[in-house]
Amino acid sequence: MRLWKLSYISTAVAAPEEALRQLRDICARSGERNALVGISSIATVHKGRFAQVLEGPEDAVHTVLRRIIGDPRHRGLTVLADGPLVARRYGGLAMSYRDPKSFIADQLEDILKQTADVVRAMKATWH
Ligand SMILES: Cc1cc2nc3c(=O)[nH]c(=O)nc-3n(C[C@H](O)[C@H](O)[C@H](O)COP(=O)(O)O)c2cc1C
Repeated sequence: MRLWKLSYISTAVAAPEEALRQLRDICARSGERNALVGISSIATVHKGRFAQVLEGPEDAVHTVLRRIIGDPRHRGLTVLADGPLVARRYGGLAMSYRDPKSFIADQLEDILKQTADVVRAMKATWH
């Protein structure tokens, strides 16, 4: 089974404070469920938007995504990334809440690392 990464943003239906309470509740409840199917995940909420990164076996990621899409606590879910993953980044985290700043910092680091990997691979073909 291929290791997969999927990230998305969505719009919370509830007001910001309630949306934060909902996400903390979801994180507390979903951890065990995610762990059972091999999913590790981080999620945040900022200015009325949820953002989440899911990583795990391809089938499991898409199965949980279908459930998440149908959740009435948000709407307008937009997938940002959906593709194979070489190594997990959030290995031990079955479902972890992150404050928006550290969520963004993690994603940025990920992008920079991917860019560095591509540059390294390109350089290897030049020589
Ligand atoms: C922003 C957001 C993120 C969620 N993330 C997960 C998740 O990672 N894993 C999960 O099992 N459920 C997650 N849920 C909850 C699911 O949508 C669903 O309510 C839950 O899995 C229970 O499903 P059930 O009522 O069909 O049993 C999330 C919901 C929202 C709104």
